[in-house]
Amino acid sequence: METTRIFVLFAIFLCLTLAEEDAKLKFKPASKPVRLLTEEELKKYDGSDEDLPIYMAVKGVVFDVTKGKEFYGKDAPYNALVGKDSTRAVAKMSLDPDDLTSDTTGLTEEQLQSLDSIFEGTYKTKYPIVGYTASRILNQDGSPNKDFRPEDQPHFQIKDEF
Ligand code: HEM
Repeated sequence: METTRIFVLFAIFLCLTLAEEDAKLKFKPASKPVRLLTEEELKKYDGSDEDLPIYMAVKGVVFDVTKGKEFYGKDAPYNALVGKDSTRAVAKMSLDPDDLTSDTTGLTEEQLQSLDSIFEGTYKTKYPIVGYTASRILNQDGSPNKDFRPEDQPHFQIKDEF
C-alpha cells in the first residue's frame, strides 16, 4: 500500500517536471537577440564622433566598419557611405548623393549581382554584423517579419547586443 502511494507521488512529480520542461521548450527564443537600428540611430555612427564606432548598412544589414577607418572615417574618401544604408551606392559603385539609399528600384541585373558579391566578399567577410535595419526585421506595417533570418557569419564572435 505504502509502495503504491510512493509510486503515485513519484509519477505525479515526474509529470510535473516533464510539463515544466515542455513549457520551457515552447517559450525558448528562436535565436540570439538581434539589434534593430533605426535610421536616426544609424546616423550617430557616421564617423564624426571619434569615440563611437562607424556603422554602415548594406541590404539592411548593419556592419561595424570601424576597422576600415581609412576608407570610412571623417574626411576619408568613402565617408558619405556610412551612418546609413548605402545599398544603392554600393550596387552602382557611386558616391552620388541620390544613390546613398537602401532603394534598389530599377537596378540592373549586373548591378544587383555586383551588390551581392561585394556584400558577401567584402562586408560579410571583413566586418562584424551589429544589427539590422527595420527593412529586414519588420514588414511594411511594422509587424515582425516572420521570414527574417540573421546572416551567417561564423568567423566572427559577435557579442549579444542585449
Ligand atoms: C576611380 C575610382 C575609384 C578607384 C580608383 C577606387 C579604388 C579603390 C581602392 C584602391 C580601394 C582599396 C582596396 C583595399 O585596399 O582593400 C577601394 C576601396 C573601396 N572602394 Fe573604391 N575606388 C574608386 C571609386 C569608388 C566608388 C565610386 C565607390 C562607391 C561606392 C567606391 C567604393 C569603395 C569602397 C566601399 C571601398 C572599401 C571597401 C572595404 O571596406 O574594404 N570606390 N577603392
